[in-house]
Amino acid sequence: MVGGRPLEGTVRISGAKNASLPALCAALLTDEPVRLRNVPEVRDIRTMGRVLGALGAEVEFRVGGVVEVRARNLTSLEAPYELVKTMRASVLVLGPVLAREGRARVSLPGGCAIGARPINLHLLALEKMGATIGVEHGYVEARAERLRGAEIYFDTVTVTGTENLLMAASRAEGETVLRNAACEPEVRDLADLLNAMGAKVEGAGTPTIRIEGVRSLGGAEHRVIPDRVETGTYLAACAIAGGEIEVRDCHPPHLEAVIEKLRETGLRIEEGPDNLRVRSPRTLHAASVTTLPHPGFPTDMQAQYMVLMTQAAGVSTITESIFENRYMHVAELERMGAHVRVEGRTALVTGPTPLSGAQVMATDLRASACLVLAGLGARGETIVDRVYHLDRGYYRIDEKLRGLGADIERIRWP
Ligand code: EPU
Repeated sequence: MVGGRPLEGTVRISGAKNASLPALCAALLTDEPVRLRNVPEVRDIRTMGRVLGALGAEVEFRVGGVVEVRARNLTSLEAPYELVKTMRASVLVLGPVLAREGRARVSLPGGCAIGARPINLHLLALEKMGATIGVEHGYVEARAERLRGAEIYFDTVTVTGTENLLMAASRAEGETVLRNAACEPEVRDLADLLNAMGAKVEGAGTPTIRIEGVRSLGGAEHRVIPDRVETGTYLAACAIAGGEIEVRDCHPPHLEAVIEKLRETGLRIEEGPDNLRVRSPRTLHAASVTTLPHPGFPTDMQAQYMVLMTQAAGVSTITESIFENRYMHVAELERMGAHVRVEGRTALVTGPTPLSGAQVMATDLRASACLVLAGLGARGETIVDRVYHLDRGYYRIDEKLRGLGADIERIRWP
């Protein structure tokens, strides 16, 4: 890609990857069909399709983001290492399979590019519901005749942990209360789907969720919420490249913290019911930020925001409070001319520094988006290697950016 072209025009936001993944797993809780709309056609969704397929579910991807899952009966109760290692979210099958079959085997995900990321809180909570958990040969093996409702307090806010328990508890015996639950919109979306399937979930989207277990769940149809991180990424792209764009098919209330922070940097943002108009200012101002669980500033926007801060006047601090090792993009940004100093969990960014195009390497999904944004703001040509990371969570980002006037091209499909 060659940087320096301001963006203009309209971009449409896809459905949320991180809402679609648990929604696909929720379909394992019933033998009836579950039809999901607005599912983004990204690689992680295909991977989840393979995970469900390995368990014996029929998964049909239709055109236009419609996916139908039918788990008439499960022929395997195992999420194998080959799949879990490529996508940690595969652990989301643990709760539903255990609740339905009384047994589940899931490979432990291990570390990943953004930190240790254990699943101990998922396991502790399932134990509280009466499951026996063992770890052997790299696999978690969980058993429970029937899960029982329980009072669960999460020590740390965990998104997929909350989702796993929400699914498990919806078919358990009696009432489960989740405290310090994740408030992310994706959790709320999962609860909406579960309720459409016949579950009794109350309070999703707040720190306390009550679930009254039911014997069985039925089929449903559900439209997945728009991707708030994709939305934020295009807002940041416009700020970095300059220009004025409209972001359509999004849900502004899901990204208030991002919108407010971007306004603080000088961006003009007008909110509509399902769209945002954004205009880049002549000068961007430095504004510090700390990533937090929702409704705080999302960690999934931290890398993209850092690029923006390299272009803003002044010194900003970015504190990553969710993951301990999510600064893999810093070294690549420095190679493009950024001034960033990392001290523990805080990055000090001094701007504005002109970025110059370079050959860089993506290390994870959001880091790869950050490098693309850096390329848009850089002088000369940038080549981002390992774009398969990008394809895990962004639907055709190259095409969408080209539609906004960016000079970007996919050299090779992975
Ligand atoms: N944690 C534990 N023990 C657990 C679970 C989590 O110590 O059992 C810690 C983690 O190590 C981390 C913190 O708690 O420090 C929060 O992790 P969380 O469990 O919330 O993360 P996650 O559920 O694995 C989801 C998203 C991530 C997103 C995080 C935080 C999905 C499929 N993934 O991960 O998305 O960064 O929440 O918001 O929903 C991405 O899309 O690029 C991505 C990484």
